[in-house]
Amino acid sequence: MNHFEYGPEGLTCEGVPLARIAAEVGTPVYVYSRATLERHFTVFRDALELAGVADPLIAYAVKANSNVAVLKVLGELGAGADTVSEGEVRRALAAGIPAERIVFSGVGKARREIEFALQAGVAEINVESEPELNLIAAVAAELGVRAKVAFRVNPDVAAGGHAKIATGKAENKFGVSFAEAARLYANASNHAALEPVGVACHIGSQITELAPMRAAFSKMRGLVEQLLGEGLSVERLDLGGGLGVPYFNHPEPPSPADFAAMVGEVTAGLPVRLAFEPGRVIAANAGVLVSEVIHIHARPEGRKFLVIDAAMNDLVRPAMYDAFHDIRPLTRRDGEAVYDVVGPVCETGDTFTRDRALPPLAAGDLVAFMSAGAYGAAMASEYNTRPLVPEVLVDGDRFAVIRARPTYDEMLARDLVPDWV
Ligand code: LLP
Repeated sequence: MNHFEYGPEGLTCEGVPLARIAAEVGTPVYVYSRATLERHFTVFRDALELAGVADPLIAYAVKANSNVAVLKVLGELGAGADTVSEGEVRRALAAGIPAERIVFSGVGKARREIEFALQAGVAEINVESEPELNLIAAVAAELGVRAKVAFRVNPDVAAGGHAKIATGKAENKFGVSFAEAARLYANASNHAALEPVGVACHIGSQITELAPMRAAFSKMRGLVEQLLGEGLSVERLDLGGGLGVPYFNHPEPPSPADFAAMVGEVTAGLPVRLAFEPGRVIAANAGVLVSEVIHIHARPEGRKFLVIDAAMNDLVRPAMYDAFHDIRPLTRRDGEAVYDVVGPVCETGDTFTRDRALPPLAAGDLVAFMSAGAYGAAMASEYNTRPLVPEVLVDGDRFAVIRARPTYDEMLARDLVPDWV
């Protein structure tokens, strides 16, 4: 459930009509609902509790929506942070998320990023390969600390979904293989600068079936039991993120309750603390992208292009993954017209959708891309020198800009022209 509904003043986020935000902040603009973010986090946490998962670490995947205000909302509910760069660790810390709730993942952590994470005292660094383990050990030894590490294991399970976001097959770049996990874990346990605390997996994103997750988690359980059987200390099992959300044209994903029940079953009696890294399921349906129709270009042959002021640089998911986002006019109306919805960027890929039946629209009308709170603003760029899209957070009847649109002066001031040019 989310808090975007039609009211007397059109499509509304909690108590604020989206048209009012568009008038004050301009378009395109991302709008997030605080109540929805909070609800999604609590539903996820309560479902796990109900399924008998005691005291899980829910490390929200910062990459999905990394605005510091969003992180603060979630952090105040007890969320940790799953991070993949020094920048994301800094964002989580800036939002007041304590280091002991921060997980540092990612396939290519640089030396300076490892140094930063160790100095900050993060809960665990998820190790993705043997060379990375050696680098972490060397950095920790230099700093005179013991690095808490968890091994990200590639369970070699196909999770379905788009190939660009599947991560759990052996041919993907992520994690150490099952074959090497136990050896690396045992070696690390004997290393003075390393403290292995557990194992982790993450098999993909927008997963809409429980079966692949069940298969991967069962393999992980087997690995934990094997390590414990070898007398090694294992405190944590990190089951990653990946639970899908309804995008309206997709297969209905399992509910957090179904997911949690499956986790409860698979991990029953396992003497470890569970961690999760949900991103999309918390943030996607908590945000929309509001855009204005610039004009409608109707070709005599019949095709109608709805040209809007948002583009692939603001929301890249359709161009990159052929992703479907429901598009709703802010003012409800009857009738139907079929449009190709396109942005102003000079690429054919800047097409949000083709042949989409929408209510008839005209220049100046406002539309909202639904389910855009995850991997929307976080993946935005300034391609075509379009100002980075701003973000707004709604809380009941009030709203605030949580990232301002840069001015052209600010954008141009970032470029430096040497005096020899
Ligand atoms: N943990 C790890 C290690 C991850 O790589 C990811 C996502 C997550 C957690 C969070 O997954 P989620 O719960 O959000 O599915 N840009 C793509 C999605 C990329 C996902 C990358 N990894 C999209 O827009 O669909």
